[in-house]
Amino acid sequence: MYHPDSSACIVVDGKLVAAVEEERFNRIKHYSGFPSESIKFCLNKAGIKIENVDYIAIPRKPQARVLNKIFYGIRIPKMTFKRVQAWQKTFNVKEKLSQIFEIPSEKIKAKIIKVEHHLAHLSSSFLISPFDKAFLYSHDALGDFASTMWGIGEGNKIKVFEDIAFPHSLGFYYTAITQYLGFLKFGDEYKVMGLASYGNEFLDVFNDILQIKDYKFELNLSYFLHHKKLIDLNLEGEPKIDILFSEYLEKKLGKRREKDEPIEKKHENIAFSLQRRLEEVVFHLLNSLYKKYNLDTKNICMSGGVSYNCVLNGKIFDNTEFDNVYIIPAPGDAGLCIGSAFYVWNCYLNNPRDFIMEHAYYGPDYSEKEIEDEILKRKDEIILRGFKIEKVEDEDLLCKVTAQKVSEGKIVGFFHGRMEFGPRALGARSIICDPRKKEMKDILNKRIKNREPFRPFAPSILEENTAEYFEKSHPSPFMLFAYQVKKDKQDKIPAVTHVDGTGRLQTVSKKTNPLYWKVIKEFENITGIPCVLNTSFNESEPIVNKPEEAINCFLRTKMDTLVIGNFIIS
Ligand SMILES: [Fe+2]
Repeated sequence: MYHPDSSACIVVDGKLVAAVEEERFNRIKHYSGFPSESIKFCLNKAGIKIENVDYIAIPRKPQARVLNKIFYGIRIPKMTFKRVQAWQKTFNVKEKLSQIFEIPSEKIKAKIIKVEHHLAHLSSSFLISPFDKAFLYSHDALGDFASTMWGIGEGNKIKVFEDIAFPHSLGFYYTAITQYLGFLKFGDEYKVMGLASYGNEFLDVFNDILQIKDYKFELNLSYFLHHKKLIDLNLEGEPKIDILFSEYLEKKLGKRREKDEPIEKKHENIAFSLQRRLEEVVFHLLNSLYKKYNLDTKNICMSGGVSYNCVLNGKIFDNTEFDNVYIIPAPGDAGLCIGSAFYVWNCYLNNPRDFIMEHAYYGPDYSEKEIEDEILKRKDEIILRGFKIEKVEDEDLLCKVTAQKVSEGKIVGFFHGRMEFGPRALGARSIICDPRKKEMKDILNKRIKNREPFRPFAPSILEENTAEYFEKSHPSPFMLFAYQVKKDKQDKIPAVTHVDGTGRLQTVSKKTNPLYWKVIKEFENITGIPCVLNTSFNESEPIVNKPEEAINCFLRTKMDTLVIGNFIIS
């Protein structure tokens, strides 16, 4: 709360019951503020009243790194003011809840536990992972004045080894260069990651910007501004981030690219070097730490916003000692709610671990009646627009028809079951298309997505066929790994093969999403290809949550077909 990607979850008897980001309700991307609607949804889903909650976990600990905070507070007085404001809000949680639920705050008996930001990150990936023992590593921009933390997890115990404090931060490193390249919105780093696969090396400057110091890293601060001024992320509303890079960076790399200027070869080279240096440094850290702590595990749990870097994640297997990687579906700050809640259950209350987060479908769902009512409300408009509404009760037939439409080159909105937690659409709120058609990317961009042309689209592939199409087959259920597409398969799925020959894949398991699995299986039966192109169901907005939003998005854009519950609108 009061940080970007505000979210909430509920854990009942050690099991995750519900988790959701506030942006899905208020429709403000990366919303920063109090997750009121998310809390209401989680309590409703669990059938629990706020009065009966035992613990409230908050992923923020004002006491952490106090000396560091005072040092920078003196240099940047505005920062102190903002921090005090943020801290105050963590003390007013019961008051806020009493307003939301319209009950006296004394009725809220829950004990409030504050968990340090990066400890919550480490917990978010380990305590819900399949591993009994693992090395834990978190890297982001900043949280409780640290940017990186590592430790070891075993059973229900987490031991933190060390951290790297502000102002040295891989998150700020990536964001500053993202801004230099003309992408100014909060969360734009993933765009630059797509651009990074173009171009040649530009490494000298980047070796100077991001330096290795023994088993850690340091930023050369002459390239940055974040240690000199307030980085105000907005406590309420859509987060915006000030410019982080200095004039010195422009002196070294030339004038920044303005937002609307064309992307030139030079920009591609810079993005490439940015990514390459990040990978070098992270692999150096992981390898040094492996030796330093004499680790006897090949498992690693990763978290923090930099863990969205699927290109880096996909290379861990070949560049480090680690063979098994688990990353929560929302390794950024949205996942902190899960980390802090499980920290309380497993570590604070000393309960054994008894839950693995195997899928991301913990958001809201809607009954067939709710979906039907929404369609009936819009029936005239739908028919007037020339669409036909069909109800298909038989699930096998629904999957067959969906696969048929995709194989005919249609753009299909697919809305089923509980919404995904985390920023990736994974077959519950997805738009799916035929990956065999190279032109599909441009068609999608022209008709719906309007993305930068260099950005790739991702494949959803049947888990059991992964090794047939990709050089690696380690599961990627949350679309957080990019692997090389096998040479002989690249021309079979050109719409989801990036220019560097990789694909940021989702492996789809029959166990965790049987319906989506069946659609892809039917697509394979028709085409011989066990994968579809999958992109999020939205158009310049947070992913759709309610049926109403799906129908709006369908009618607003040039989608061909909407498969929603038992209905097919085409
Ligand atoms: Fe974070």
